[in-house]
Amino acid sequence: MAEFVKVAKRSNIQPGEIKSFVVDTEVIAICNVDGEFYVIKDECSHMDYPLSDGILEGETITCAHHGAEFNVRTGEVLSLPAVDPIETFEVKVEGDDIYVLMEDY
Ligand code: FES
Repeated sequence: MAEFVKVAKRSNIQPGEIKSFVVDTEVIAICNVDGEFYVIKDECSHMDYPLSDGILEGETITCAHHGAEFNVRTGEVLSLPAVDPIETFEVKVEGDDIYVLMEDY
């Protein structure tokens, strides 16, 4: 069953920052895009390296390993060498707490 899980404090993730978290068996990355939080699976769809090693500019994350780009809000792939989208997660913020909707939690 899907459940919102408290994962992080918003005050610990500054605008433009990406932080990786392990939740149960899933590795996710929380991205702060100018105060809006988006959550992606922390795994590039090209060769599975962590996207949290990359650079976030606006809604676009650039993989540090071979330069593929993705939209962190939609998961859409924006440039090669990746061709598949990345998984995104629903997020909600309450006070200073960031909750992520995890399937089968
Ligand atoms: S692993 Fe991300 S571009 Fe290759």
